[in-house]
Amino acid sequence: MSKTYNIAVIPGDGIGPEVVREGLRVLARVASLEGFTAATTTYPFGAEHYLKTQEVFPDSAFEEVKRHDAILLGAIGDPRIQVGFLEFGIIARMRFGLDLYVNLRPVKLYAEHLCPLKDRKPEDVDFIVVRENTEDAYAGMYGYFKKGTPDEIATQEILFTRKGTERVIRYAFELARRRNRAKKLTLVDKANAVRAMDLWTRTFEEVGAEYPDIARDHAYIDAATMWCVKNPEWFDTVVTSNMFGDILTDLAAMIQGGLGVAASGNLHPGRVSLFEPIHGSAPKYAGKNLANPIATVMAVQMMLDYLGETRAAQRIEDAVAALLRSKRIPSLGSDSGLSTSQVGDLVLAELERAQVTA
Ligand code: IPM
Ligand code: MG
Repeated sequence: MSKTYNIAVIPGDGIGPEVVREGLRVLARVASLEGFTAATTTYPFGAEHYLKTQEVFPDSAFEEVKRHDAILLGAIGDPRIQVGFLEFGIIARMRFGLDLYVNLRPVKLYAEHLCPLKDRKPEDVDFIVVRENTEDAYAGMYGYFKKGTPDEIATQEILFTRKGTERVIRYAFELARRRNRAKKLTLVDKANAVRAMDLWTRTFEEVGAEYPDIARDHAYIDAATMWCVKNPEWFDTVVTSNMFGDILTDLAAMIQGGLGVAASGNLHPGRVSLFEPIHGSAPKYAGKNLANPIATVMAVQMMLDYLGETRAAQRIEDAVAALLRSKRIPSLGSDSGLSTSQVGDLVLAELERAQVTA
């Protein structure tokens, strides 16, 4: 009997539903090529559902989602709703509630012409960022004093635990070893100003001692953003805290061709994990069939790799790489001249073509 994976799907807001639609077509096709089944359950959560029902993400649905093998998310965010409300109620709920402590963000340039940096080739831009995903300022410990008065004070705690720091650093060392490329792990922090980050410095050294085959490297976040543009080839595997990882990976997405290609996995190794494009809901393009679905297709690719369907994942990566290199998908923005569904069609056709050639 063929293997079945149960996938919870939350298309979400804005362009989320249309890019997820294409991601699911690609999923179904590689599943049939590789002989497994992807059974999907779609959940309606997001702005529209909230406005209709006042429901964000009910506990019963959360419990159900938890029992799946993986989760695919489109995008969350809508200008009609207070900033951060749905992001925290849906995305952060899963990141924290499922303890998805690794946010994995590959930065890989598939075709030279997609890179905004001069003379940079695919071999120069190929690294992966391991962003801590459950702590830092994202823990939501904030407050106001004398709110709305001239003496107002606002605070938000940046918090790091030994356990949280250690587990993500350990994951990153293991990943650097598995990648088997430069065998280098760069710690990105701001320990010169945020002294609480000395915890990262010490933990990195201690855990690193167990990985003598992995070279330890370090950059402060400000310098890391500079190196990312100036010498991206210096990076192999990068580990960093939640907020710095958030910022660094938007910059890094640009040097791999933009948010149209960048995907991420929110992982708790061995448990149900969440996959999503890095881009947001882009409300102004919603429903126009213009958004490029490649980032979601790559989120599906990461999901399959995580589930152990490495051949299926490789098929998707090869198809996307071939389409980008040959400029059949000429760019990753909404200006590519291709509709959302046409890009999906091209990926499906390329999967077939590769199948025939092989
Ligand atoms: C991301 C996003 C989120 C984050 C937002 C939507 C809260 O920017 O996944 O990178 O900051 O983590
Ligand atoms: Mg972000």
